[in-house]
Amino acid sequence: MENVNYQLTKLKRKFREFVALYDLSDESIVSKINHSKRVCNKSLYLGRKLNLDAENMYLAGTIGLIHDVARFEQWTRFKTYKDSQKFNHSYMSNHVLFNVDRSVKGRLIDFFEIPVKYHDIVRFAICNHGNKEISPLCNNLRGTNNGNTAMFHAKLIRDADKLDLLNNFSHVVLLMKKGFNEQRSTLQRTEGASSAVLQEFNNHRLVDRTNVVTILDYALMQTAFGYDFNFEPPKQIYINKLASNIYKSFRPYLNQADAQTLRFHIQNQLKYLKNKR
Ligand SMILES: [Fe+2]
Repeated sequence: MENVNYQLTKLKRKFREFVALYDLSDESIVSKINHSKRVCNKSLYLGRKLNLDAENMYLAGTIGLIHDVARFEQWTRFKTYKDSQKFNHSYMSNHVLFNVDRSVKGRLIDFFEIPVKYHDIVRFAICNHGNKEISPLCNNLRGTNNGNTAMFHAKLIRDADKLDLLNNFSHVVLLMKKGFNEQRSTLQRTEGASSAVLQEFNNHRLVDRTNVVTILDYALMQTAFGYDFNFEPPKQIYINKLASNIYKSFRPYLNQADAQTLRFHIQNQLKYLKNKR
């Protein structure tokens, strides 16, 4: 792979052309474009920390930029970023990439000029990026030669994505501004934490979005991301900075008892993560 920066600059130009097909005056669309760009940068940052070679740096940056390509379609059609049976954005991103799209007169993966030898890796990483856990069967990659590299990039994009989601809580502010009674939000203005959420959290697992009912549930779901980092550098960033970010970002929207509960769980989690190292 020659000149990774040149390849990624070309890809970013193509990506701009692609997102220009959507409504750029809509702040929800713009926020996902910005998320995609930041995740690309974070993937490259982690790639440098992990001393990746040129080829893997290209893959890290590429997957980072395009991992959410179905989000634009999802918002345009359904005005929500909530995944459903009908629209799981991780699977749909592959659908958008690998099926002929009239707007780009072909397949988006070809429009982005991503070499065919990387397609399986890209497909596997994107398929798994938003799921609760990595499934070796996602897109039937088991047994192919790209297995190890694909697994590595699935882990990397999950870490880079979570780093960004925990570093940028504009989506929380947006959610709170919209209010809890709007149809598109499933959060209800109730207090406390749901037992299903607490159970998953206490088992050090990611929290299922379908169990999230209260603001505290939502905050705990975000905190549970801290259990799911695969690589040491993002784990460090989480422990040193992001965990306290969660508390600060949710504090204004929680009553005193719920704020204390959140603080208690974050502190316990940090103790656990530090001991595990
Ligand atoms: Fe995503």
